[in-house]
Amino acid sequence: MKIVMLGGPGAGKGTQAKIIAEEYKIPHISTGDIFRANIKEGTELGMKAKSFMDQGLLVPDELVVDLVADRLTWEDAKAGFVLDGFPRTIPQAEALTKALADMGTGLDYAIDIEVPDQTIIDRMGGRRACVSCGATYHIVNIPPKTEGKCDKCGSDLILRDDDKAETVKKRLDVYHEQTQPLIDYYKAQDLLKEVDGTVAMAEVFNAIAAILGA
Ligand code: AP5
Ligand code: MG
Ligand code: ZN
Repeated sequence: MKIVMLGGPGAGKGTQAKIIAEEYKIPHISTGDIFRANIKEGTELGMKAKSFMDQGLLVPDELVVDLVADRLTWEDAKAGFVLDGFPRTIPQAEALTKALADMGTGLDYAIDIEVPDQTIIDRMGGRRACVSCGATYHIVNIPPKTEGKCDKCGSDLILRDDDKAETVKKRLDVYHEQTQPLIDYYKAQDLLKEVDGTVAMAEVFNAIAAILGA
């Protein structure tokens, strides 16, 4: 099963991609998580990416395309994968189509999680992420068992730098301008499936599972 998750910032791509990965035993590949891990380790890629991410801008295509194309050649991705946060521009989508075609394969689904901008703004301020394992919570919708601590590993939970209100607005603008065109791109290839992302997490997953089949 080869899947791409689409949707605005905070639509729930990461939340759903993690469940899909577990249920279908395929790797969850999040370019945002890869960049955040690089920032934490202080790599050159991380430093370059951070300057764009903190402003709510996209990291340039050339810093992300090869990274993903390489990741897709790993053994664990042969049977399938769920890509979260990539592609985000038409050139990235074209590069992905080509990389998969070169490997003799192609995508099965592009799942768009639809959430209005105002809901996104409300959600982001409440999101907390684990500094160690990347697990995400929401102070109201999905609270951790102990305030400020990760259920899975006990580490501290933080507000992402790019989840500050001003940056969220910028990320939404960038999404509408550069990423939303992918909806038509995948519609034209008959790969697009849309789900309502405003309902509870489990209901969103049920809608996705109905698309993917058991
Ligand atoms: P990235 O990490 O991909 O951020 P994003 O797309 O802005 O998406 P988020 O991770 O913020 O949201 P999400 O959809 O995963 O939502 P989540 O499940 O966490 O990218 C960050 C930055 O990296 C970009 O801005 C860019 O600079 C750079 N970048 C990354 N990839 C790139 C690329 N390919 N090209 C160029 N640049 C790139 O959910 C959000 C919150 O809502 C959580 O608190 C969650 O608990 C809660 N929630 C989830 N579902 C529900 C629900 N159904 N009901 C209520 N609450 C819910
Ligand atoms: Mg995410
Ligand atoms: Zn954790």
